[in-house]
Amino acid sequence: MDNPYGLLAELTYSCPLQCSYCSNPLQLDDYRDELSTEEWKRVFTEAAGLGVLQLHLSGGEPLQRRDIVDLVQHANQLGLYTNLITSGLGLSTLRAEQLRKAGLDHVQLSIQADDQALSDQIAVTTSFERKQVAAGLIKSLGWPLTLNVVLHRQNIDRIGGILDMAEAMEADRVELANTQYAGWAGPNQAELLPTRNQLEGAEAVVRAARERIGDRMEIIYVMPDYYSMYPKPCMDGWASRQFTVVPNGEALPCPAAHEVARGLGLPPATVREHSLQWIWNEAPLFQQYRGTDWMPDPCRSCDRKEIDFGGCRCQAFALTGDAARTDPVCHLSPDHGIVEAAVEAANDPLRPHNGPLIPRAKVSRAKRAAT
Ligand code: SF4
Ligand code: FES
Repeated sequence: MDNPYGLLAELTYSCPLQCSYCSNPLQLDDYRDELSTEEWKRVFTEAAGLGVLQLHLSGGEPLQRRDIVDLVQHANQLGLYTNLITSGLGLSTLRAEQLRKAGLDHVQLSIQADDQALSDQIAVTTSFERKQVAAGLIKSLGWPLTLNVVLHRQNIDRIGGILDMAEAMEADRVELANTQYAGWAGPNQAELLPTRNQLEGAEAVVRAARERIGDRMEIIYVMPDYYSMYPKPCMDGWASRQFTVVPNGEALPCPAAHEVARGLGLPPATVREHSLQWIWNEAPLFQQYRGTDWMPDPCRSCDRKEIDFGGCRCQAFALTGDAARTDPVCHLSPDHGIVEAAVEAANDPLRPHNGPLIPRAKVSRAKRAAT
């Protein structure tokens, strides 16, 4: 087993936005007893000791933590590469300058759309203009700027405008990733899954933009796996290269594994009770789907099992109730009919492109405020 190279620290599930595609868990209230500043610092120290090189600070909205500058400074002193994943709300000039001084290496800014009304509608919050300001601030302080855009049925037709906006912001990189149906995106899947026509249109726009823009801006485009023959090698395999610590200190092999962990009925692997070393090497949740021994057929006898690792455990659990089954996205899965039915429904010409979405619940204040 290799050492992990990446830690995703979900510092808080508090967030001013309420995007319906949010991958945070549905039971947000269960995670309000947040780790203190000292507890997070210990986690970062242990992570560095375990070989972690990249620390992704996320949430919710990580800028909701009053101790964010202190945490970045500590991670920087440990030699970790720090990446802030933010909506941009809460990035004041003062905060940004403090973070720069504390050694923050990189910022990823989430973008919902290029059109103010649509952007604010998807975020369920007036946020479009504040994101523009945040992008300017990030560039002016000399950080590399990556824009994260979650694509779905309601914004994918705007992809050309989104790329124009990214160029205008002088983004170094744009990640256009179709929604993964974890967390709040699960119950919203029917209203988020694009049609085949929408995808073909989006791919053509991306191809043309890449040719036009060249090296000036890197464009990553991630297809929705529902339209693929094979699943993605989710997380490069369960508990293989990276892991997540959620706001209350539970460690998970991937950011969406809350439901899988509950479904297995295993004791939570929490940093409040265990070292990261023990969690990575011994925790039953981390061992459960590591490697290939756990695989059922058809994966067990498939020559792609070391390529895609049977797909996504969280998706298998969400769609079949059993995380040990082959990801239903795979055309060889006995459960593939579930995905085919969803794709057929998405392509029903009578289904609108702006159906009602369930917004992510609002979590405004943590139970235990950061020190
Ligand atoms: Fe991947 Fe399993 Fe499908 Fe083979 S059967 S392609 S290993 S998901
Ligand atoms: Fe959890 Fe794929 S999202 S394993």
